[in-house]
Amino acid sequence: MNQQVSAGIISTGSFLPEKVLSNEDLEKMVETSSEWICSRTGIRERRIAEKDISASDLAVRAAERALERSGLSADQLDLIIVATITPDMFFPSTACIVQDRIGARKAAAFDISAACTGFVYGLTIAEQFIKLKTYRYVLVVGVEVLSKIVDWSDRNTCILFGDGAGAAIVGPVQPGKGIQYSHLRADGSGGDLLKVPAGGSKIPCSRDSLENGLHFLKMSGKDIFKFAVKVMEDSTRDAMEACALKVTDIDLLIPHQANLRIIHSGAKRLNLPPEKVWINIDRFGNISAASIPVALDEAVTSGKVREDSLVVLLGFGAGLTWGVNVLRW
Ligand code: UT7
Repeated sequence: MNQQVSAGIISTGSFLPEKVLSNEDLEKMVETSSEWICSRTGIRERRIAEKDISASDLAVRAAERALERSGLSADQLDLIIVATITPDMFFPSTACIVQDRIGARKAAAFDISAACTGFVYGLTIAEQFIKLKTYRYVLVVGVEVLSKIVDWSDRNTCILFGDGAGAAIVGPVQPGKGIQYSHLRADGSGGDLLKVPAGGSKIPCSRDSLENGLHFLKMSGKDIFKFAVKVMEDSTRDAMEACALKVTDIDLLIPHQANLRIIHSGAKRLNLPPEKVWINIDRFGNISAASIPVALDEAVTSGKVREDSLVVLLGFGAGLTWGVNVLRW
């Protein structure tokens, strides 16, 4: 009998590029104001990678930090999952590039594409492998270099996004600890609301696609906003119910950092006080798949997450996708 074990996060790590792009810098690039950006999004600044930096560069730095804190060596990793919508290239996967660069000689590796829900998807996949004892240690990385797919002349989108990476080592933990519950959802009918239209097999790269800016990220902000607020409330409530817990039992909610107004509306509907909701969008903007693991790493290293804390990770984004992990630390 293959008895299940509990899966949990053993350590975290993150890496943000040094270069800061402030709202004031953006005022010089597009017709906007720091006041508009702050009041409509909560963002004050974001990190931007240098031109020669790609997703794997950021992912490797975050992964190395997580590995160091885990006390494991790279060749103890069985699997590497990289969640990203800005991979180094179509293939090989960014996970394979990371696997080589950190020297994880015995690990399998693949990328997943679930946009801003990517880390929650990745963690949930890791959980299954560990619970079934297929693998013991899994590295999950959420990484984005969104600055490379943003249209820097489009004020509707360029003010929102940033670059960064967050990582977690997932492995077996004591019974009662670790991931208590996960759920993943998708609604592909909302796919057009947030996408990069060209560069794939539907609209391959051509002079025409380049001239029409189809390689840049396009977003219907208002529709995504409504979806996000609803998901934040519904998914958190559903997850608490599935765990036979109450929303008041949550010690820390780490939602995807897309817009401060989304986070505030969701938290208000859930009746969660500000000290129970992690916010870093003011400093990093929206870093898609990296958003939740970067926030988690901050919450862990700052001491906000402690032994026995009940932590809820909540992702939502392109696909549409959404999902939640409930963890007992
Ligand atoms: O991570 C994946 C999930 N993504 C999200 O969750 C994003 C969700 N959506 C949002 O965060 C918001 O919809 C935005 C921040 C993107 C936009 O905020 P909004 O309150 O929905 O603004 P809007 O798009 O309705 O635009 C309002 C006005 C427009 O002007 P008019 O048409 O009313 O004259 C825009 O042209 O604000 C204008 N505007 C700007 N003005 C100054 C749009 N962007 C800017 C800007 N600076 N950067």
